[in-house]
Amino acid sequence: MDYKVSSIRNVLTCMCLMLLHMFSVAQDEDLRSKSCRTAPCDLVFIVDGSWSVQDVNFEIVKGWLVNITTSFNIGQKFTQVGVVQYSDDPLLEIPLGKYSTNRDLITAMESIQYMGGNTRTGTAIKFATDKLFGLSERGPQGVSRIAVVLTDGKSQDEVFKVAEAARNKGVILFAIGVGSETEESELRNIANKPSSTYVFSVKDYKAISRIIQVIRQKLCEETVCPARIPVNSREEKGFDLLMYLNLAKKAKKTRGTFYGTNAFEVTTPVDLSEATRSLFPDGLPPSYVFVATLKYKGSVAVEEWDLWRIQTLDGKPQMAVTLNGGARTVMFTTTSKAPTETQTVTFSKQTLFDEKWHQMKLLVTEEDVTLYVDDLEIETLPLEPSVGIFINGKTQVGKYVRKETTVPFEIQKLRIYCDPEQNKRETACEIPGVVSIFFSATVYHQNVYKLIL
Ligand SMILES: *[C@@H]1O[C@H](CO)[C@@H](O)[C@H](O)[C@H]1NC(C)=O
Repeated sequence: MDYKVSSIRNVLTCMCLMLLHMFSVAQDEDLRSKSCRTAPCDLVFIVDGSWSVQDVNFEIVKGWLVNITTSFNIGQKFTQVGVVQYSDDPLLEIPLGKYSTNRDLITAMESIQYMGGNTRTGTAIKFATDKLFGLSERGPQGVSRIAVVLTDGKSQDEVFKVAEAARNKGVILFAIGVGSETEESELRNIANKPSSTYVFSVKDYKAISRIIQVIRQKLCEETVCPARIPVNSREEKGFDLLMYLNLAKKAKKTRGTFYGTNAFEVTTPVDLSEATRSLFPDGLPPSYVFVATLKYKGSVAVEEWDLWRIQTLDGKPQMAVTLNGGARTVMFTTTSKAPTETQTVTFSKQTLFDEKWHQMKLLVTEEDVTLYVDDLEIETLPLEPSVGIFINGKTQVGKYVRKETTVPFEIQKLRIYCDPEQNKRETACEIPGVVSIFFSATVYHQNVYKLIL
């Protein structure tokens, strides 16, 4: 009898646990952001269906649409996709938001029939602006509106004015030119600025599959990284953490790497914590660059601390950049699809622990992470596939590992750039002595350097 009772009890306990588990999974699904998969966005593909494309290539285009789409969650709360095929006239193949599952959308994409005809790209852009974005219930302020124009020829009508009109309505335009018949200047007229971000040219239709990852990344950046950081004369998409965490108010100003540059002195009473939801409401893009220019002294240089971490609601790190002075290592932690939920890689034998100013940079991609210290490429370590972060916890800067105590250190820069290309542009010339050694464009820098000295 005892057995029976206990087995029933076990069954009940088990059911309870299952329910609890189901409940928490459902909750997780809601809160595990908010990566690009799920960031809300209205996305319209405007694809060339003129004679020059040919049947076989049009099939490739359809496969391409499907492949890009599979990386987004489709639905009213997430990404809505529309498709316009055009030649002489635009044809509404898929109205924006018509399908609420990936499978239905993909089926619809696969059944698009190639039309043939001339190339009137301008008319098609206007059509998408008025008849797709214009009719979307998710208003212009609500979600990102992105149009991707794919063409293989020169337009037979005017594109600049209609593209400008679309941009004025908040539509972000990407232009992809396929083959040698396209005109670079026309693609630039269609797309947003800078052209280096919004214009793509590929040799032929076979080559468009090679830009799927970068297109996905760019689409992602538009939704996940609305903020801009002024860098030199450009505006880079990303997050300036010193600004977001309000260091100007919380910490004392101090001299930075050079005379005349400012940094902040973080002391133990300062708390650099913020709700992740307010810093990264839509998570992070699949690839990004983490940059920190910092200095720390004394016992800190031999301790283990998180320069940056994003915690789950119960305080577990799901992402972190950890410095361990004792072991002279830098660790990078991120989410994982594996049951462990996180993964950590370790860069060893670092020079970061000599109490001098250093710039450390992590280039994170979908496959790996590379560490740079003062522009020297140190090492690349592989990463397993990651998942979106939970945004219901806290993001913290400068905390001892597993503790809430703030580490005393000085910090001049702490940023996350969404565009992985920023890795090449963001040099460590702010670090004394670096420029003159590692750069080919050093003459100018060296002179500046001498002047400063
Ligand atoms: C789409 O993905 C499938 C499966 O990975 C691949 O075989 C195909 O070549 C891709 N098509 C394009 C156009 O990228």
